[in-house]
Amino acid sequence: MKVVIIGAGVAGLGIGWRLLQAGCAVTILERAQAGGGASWAAAGMLAVTAELEDAAEPERTLALRASALWPGFAAELEAASGRSLFLNAGGALLLAGDGAELAVMQARAEGELRIVDAADARAQVPLLGDNLGGLWSPHESHVDNRALGEALTIAFLKAGGLLYPNEAAVRIEERGGRASAVLTPYGRYDADAVLVAAGAWSSLLDQIPIVPVKGEVIALMPPTSAALPGPVVWGEHVYCVPRPHLGRLLVGATVEEAGFDTSPTVAARDHLRASAEKLMPSLRGWTLSDHWAGLRPKSPDGLPLLGPTATAGLFVAGGQYRNGILFTPAIAAEMADLILGKSQVIPAFDPRRFA
Ligand code: GLY
Repeated sequence: MKVVIIGAGVAGLGIGWRLLQAGCAVTILERAQAGGGASWAAAGMLAVTAELEDAAEPERTLALRASALWPGFAAELEAASGRSLFLNAGGALLLAGDGAELAVMQARAEGELRIVDAADARAQVPLLGDNLGGLWSPHESHVDNRALGEALTIAFLKAGGLLYPNEAAVRIEERGGRASAVLTPYGRYDADAVLVAAGAWSSLLDQIPIVPVKGEVIALMPPTSAALPGPVVWGEHVYCVPRPHLGRLLVGATVEEAGFDTSPTVAARDHLRASAEKLMPSLRGWTLSDHWAGLRPKSPDGLPLLGPTATAGLFVAGGQYRNGILFTPAIAAEMADLILGKSQVIPAFDPRRFA
């Protein structure tokens, strides 16, 4: 079976890798660079506790499935690519902003999730200033999403996939009511199945109602005398993610519908930095080392689109919104099975729900 994938983010690469392993011939067309877009701009959190608190049931199940798959997926991908993903299960600390938030956290504290007071919180993260304590999730993880994009690219190519960067799909051709080829300015790629996994840019092709949601992130570097926090820290409407192998702390993120604009703004930089300094006052002495923005792909109901479209042979993997890195292993497995006709679409994620 010949599959053409539009988009070499972690979703397109992951699904392509799984399809190659299943014996398909896979070509990926990428408008820019592999592993770019939201895959590059993300902070890499596998934040089941922090970001899926209000998630509806099918999304929660997908997140938990992905979370369970991550260790094995990372080990397999590291072996296949020879690259480390820097998977770090150092936990996450969610700090309460006020008594009401603390009460909500207390209601969530079960299993390994436990409430910590200010002193416990500071024992986990000595950089913290005054705080009300919050929720401690000891095994929450994060990966280096840029390393993930590189590793998936290597694994995909080593497995025999074809990848064309700087080659945007401009049209999906149909024959007899079926997707049969993808056209770019440079060529025509015949396919038995076409998958759109183009993140925020998926909306530029028909039938796919996805909007870009801008997120800005900054990176701070400590003075030589200071250590990075061990866990991920959430509070003051920001998250702080350590990247120990790069010696920096990521602070994100804004959430804004601003079309396809990815320019970093002074206002976002100052807001992110001030919020992080409220959490950890000594960050005032840290150096701003980077600042960027990415576009999260969001569907009208906030749930992913995973499955067939109204056109036979045309599939979508999109709308991952804030959880694209977390979902990677589950989407790779489920979409490969769907394209191969080995599984059924989950109704809540069916892209045809917007038809
Ligand atoms: N998952 C991180 C973000 O959306 O900012």
